[in-house]
Amino acid sequence: MNEKKEFASYLKSQIGEDFSLEQIESLIEKPKQLHQGDLAFPCFQLAKIYKTSPAEIAYRLSASSLPSLFSKVETVGGYVNVFLDKKSAAAYLITNILKEQENYGSHLIGKNKTIVFDLSSPNIAKPFSMGHLRSTVIGSSFALISEKCGYDTVKINYIGDWGTQFGKLISAYLRWGKEERVKENPIPELTTLYVRFHEEADKDPSLNDEGRKWFKKLEDGDPEASQLWVWFKEVSLNAFQKIYELLGVEFDSYNGEAFFNDKMDATVKELTDKNLLELSDGAQIVSVGEDIPPCLIKKTDGATLYATRDLTAAIYRKNTYDFDQAFYVVGHEQSLHFEQVKRVLTKMGYDWSKNMHHVPFGLILQDGKKMSTRKGRTVLLETVLLDAIQLAENNIREKNPALLEVDEVARQVGVGAVIFHDLKNEKGNDVEFSLEQMLKFEGDTGPYVQYTAARIQTLLNKGPFNGQIPDEFSIAEESWEMISVLNDFPLIVQNAFLRKEPSIISKYILKLSHKFNHFYGSVKILNSDKTAERLALCASIQIVLKEGLRLLGIQTPKQM
Ligand code: ARG
Repeated sequence: MNEKKEFASYLKSQIGEDFSLEQIESLIEKPKQLHQGDLAFPCFQLAKIYKTSPAEIAYRLSASSLPSLFSKVETVGGYVNVFLDKKSAAAYLITNILKEQENYGSHLIGKNKTIVFDLSSPNIAKPFSMGHLRSTVIGSSFALISEKCGYDTVKINYIGDWGTQFGKLISAYLRWGKEERVKENPIPELTTLYVRFHEEADKDPSLNDEGRKWFKKLEDGDPEASQLWVWFKEVSLNAFQKIYELLGVEFDSYNGEAFFNDKMDATVKELTDKNLLELSDGAQIVSVGEDIPPCLIKKTDGATLYATRDLTAAIYRKNTYDFDQAFYVVGHEQSLHFEQVKRVLTKMGYDWSKNMHHVPFGLILQDGKKMSTRKGRTVLLETVLLDAIQLAENNIREKNPALLEVDEVARQVGVGAVIFHDLKNEKGNDVEFSLEQMLKFEGDTGPYVQYTAARIQTLLNKGPFNGQIPDEFSIAEESWEMISVLNDFPLIVQNAFLRKEPSIISKYILKLSHKFNHFYGSVKILNSDKTAERLALCASIQIVLKEGLRLLGIQTPKQM
């Protein structure tokens, strides 16, 4: 409801040119205690300019008549405190939310600026891991939050599709692979071949040379090697696509590591020209400070490395997208790598490297141990998601046997539960994975928030809510807590962006859901003389819940 802006312009009209509107706004605080009002302006800085006491200034500033949003102004020891007029404040806010709909809470701070996201980025011929799931979910949500703050975003899935392991895989496939089996079950089959290669190479190390030979061939564009690599990539991407479809995630680019093959020479040349390369035991490195190891650019045999590709990719992205910021959503374990890459770019004279940020996150645990989709039997992430959907379906059928479109709702709830569970804790923390827990309809879960939104939808249909907005909000007092939570949404969005923390949104929609469910249990919404107002309030809550879920990458079922 912009009470801060209103209060600031009220003060500004009296302060004049000494302070700008923004300065005034940034000084406004929330009083520590409720009885001291809703907003407070400290007069200490002004007192210094005017060489008089803060109390005197506060007294003068509180003299003119208040805007209608406020009911009362008071001065307390050098502060001007104002009290919102709850009825008009609530009416103002609700009118605004219903008018702006899903645009409520949007900002323009990122207008005409681009953020490049490096997210998901699984490795071909290997299972899509829990780490990749976190990167996908956190990265997508963060991109949606950035868009809500006005930024343009570019989401890049930097597929791991290059490196010596593909020489080994080709060699393994030619020795033991069967086309049919790979076609039927690509990822588990290719993983098995790769594992077998390592087992056999332990016994017969000459296999490693064979693997290296095939990678060399691949790098030199040998047709047989290239054809197999293209095929492995295709079947892997098809398998990953199923996961992305379930999650409802899309990317703007799939330029992975291999895309930079023919672009690395230029980077190495630039490093040479800038006198940054050093020789160390035959390898080419760049020193990046005493506190961390040097960055490896070329191995003894002349092969390029992960860092060489990331350096090249960063320069390419800057040239292509002219990004304002670049975020790499990748697990903690790669912190050193990103620090090295960033420092090399700084040494190359690229000042923009300061706008590259590694956005790390914790592990997914099962029974306290790192959850792996690799160990033993390959459990695929797709299976995990399908299990979640099945469990959601069971829960829904039990709760609401008459529900239509069960399949679609089960997908929204099952997948939403997995995403919400990931995003409800600060991203740096480890997450314990438990399908039963995350699918509960009560407690701090995705289904709970979705269920709350669906419950509101039912009320709005039954009302029915005709979109009418009351001029005066007589129920402001009974619903004030919810109104002030609703009012926080724009700030919450901004904080989530600035702190790179989607959990700020999830915690917020949980809080709003709790408050609503409490309200729902304690007042009569339908068939009361306050129904119109209460439905208008419900409709605004519904808008914010739905938008909050959307920012996490979660859909809102109409019914549950
Ligand atoms: N493919 C890598 C992995 O699975 C992650 C890539 C992260 N992004 C990057 N630009 N290095 O570990």
